[in-house]
Amino acid sequence: MARTKTKILVIDDDPKVSWILSEGLKSKFDFVSARDGVEGIQMVSTEQPDLVLLDIKMPSMNGIEVLERLNKLDDRPDVIMISGHGDTKYVVDSIKLGAAEFINKPFDVHEVEIHINGVLERGKLKREVIDLKTELEAKNAYAGFVGDSEAMEKVKGIIEQVADSELTVLIRGESGTGKEIAARSLHQLSGRRDKPFLKVNCAAIPRDLLEAELFGYEKGAFTGAHKTKQGRFELANKGTIFLDEIGDLPPELQSKLLQVLEQQEFVRVGGIHNIHVDVRIICATNRNLETAITEKGFRDDLFYRLNEITLFLPPIRQRRQDIPLLVSHFLAKYNQLYNKEFSDLSPEVMDQLTTFSWPGNVRQLENMIKQVVVRGDESIITDLIYSAAAQVAGPDMGSSPQLVATDPPGEADLSTYSLKTRVGKTVANEEKKLIAEVLNKTNWNRRKAAELLEISYRSLLYKIKDYNLNSVK
Ligand SMILES: Nc1ncnc2c1ncn2[C@@H]1O[C@H](COP(=O)(O)OP(=O)(O)OP(=O)(O)O)[C@@H](O)[C@H]1O
Ligand SMILES: [Mg+2]
Repeated sequence: MARTKTKILVIDDDPKVSWILSEGLKSKFDFVSARDGVEGIQMVSTEQPDLVLLDIKMPSMNGIEVLERLNKLDDRPDVIMISGHGDTKYVVDSIKLGAAEFINKPFDVHEVEIHINGVLERGKLKREVIDLKTELEAKNAYAGFVGDSEAMEKVKGIIEQVADSELTVLIRGESGTGKEIAARSLHQLSGRRDKPFLKVNCAAIPRDLLEAELFGYEKGAFTGAHKTKQGRFELANKGTIFLDEIGDLPPELQSKLLQVLEQQEFVRVGGIHNIHVDVRIICATNRNLETAITEKGFRDDLFYRLNEITLFLPPIRQRRQDIPLLVSHFLAKYNQLYNKEFSDLSPEVMDQLTTFSWPGNVRQLENMIKQVVVRGDESIITDLIYSAAAQVAGPDMGSSPQLVATDPPGEADLSTYSLKTRVGKTVANEEKKLIAEVLNKTNWNRRKAAELLEISYRSLLYKIKDYNLNSVK
């Protein structure tokens, strides 16, 4: 059924807001509404709105947190923030999180209509550009896979060997090492390249929605299931499904996944009929699955079935030769994207880049180069590297400062006198200790831990990764 009108979800604890909007604009748009963040996030999945109007100030979960969670969805609708008096300090946060527009309370409905139309129009253009870009990139599977170190050549070799097989591949490696690119390359080099490639981030989707997301649901299966919906497995039929953060798959779904692997069949939530699919499964994790198995969090039979081939993506610090090539790649990419002409970096800055330990790997390097291009100033790298080193003072920071590469001795030791680095390290160590303590207290219930720590779930996940915390005592 094609949708005739644009559907807009209003998330606001004040029911007047959605009432005023739908009264004023019901001839133009279809409105649905949620009274709090949790319900709102759920409705984004069940209602699939084209646009979300999101109040900043709400009890329990505020608009910023809601936006953070929506950002974890693969393809979230555009979001317009509704800000009340005194919310200005959140405006910057929402911009950083990608809010498309702001509406101030009290508002005039016709003004809101103009904003809505503007955002919808921009969204359409953006999607067209992205479609074109993806199409271009897909033509060359390795277009984005830069690196000629021995380690990367090996990775590419394995990808080529196993891509066009039915083997399930488990991609491992630290955050930002390119696991997703590797998964896409495997798909592009397989006979399934013209069929869908769908990604599901098992850690990002709330547990109770994940089953419906993966396997679909029948009309009436739960409140809000107004119509039957296909899950990702069905949508990926004949193609590839990429299960990211597989280590976070809850136990009930692990057995359902095992069944899909063995019989290529499953039942929708609330359904009775078996649905047959032909889907290639690729998964990724940066968690230690072996530890998860011994702690009974992860089924070993599933692990062996998923792990027919392991593809390990080495961290940058183990393939520093790739850094210059990655730097030129990202300089070219962002010069083109932002219409800039930032030329090469000075040898001094290159030196800093090649000796840094890159805990966030290629993603971190890419972000830094992007900032250099946008701001047109390479000197910011020194600061960025120092604050990054301080922020992620990991477990081995105590003895060896992060700034020091394994190779160049001497000079780098001077960094231990830096006030910024020292203070940053101490703060990070304290932070790490506290997080570990709370996680143990809550039995590794990360949602609960995030609540106690008064940080968002998402930033807790990042910190767990950055501090290399795992549930082994
Ligand atoms: N070899 C590479 N060449 C070019 N770009 C790369 C390479 N590896 C990673 N990137 C870029 O770095 C970013 C992070 O990569 P990706 O998302 O694949 O990492 P990941 O391993 O999935 O990380 P996470 O565990 O945090 O999800 C992306 O923007 C990606 O394009
Ligand atoms: Mg990833």
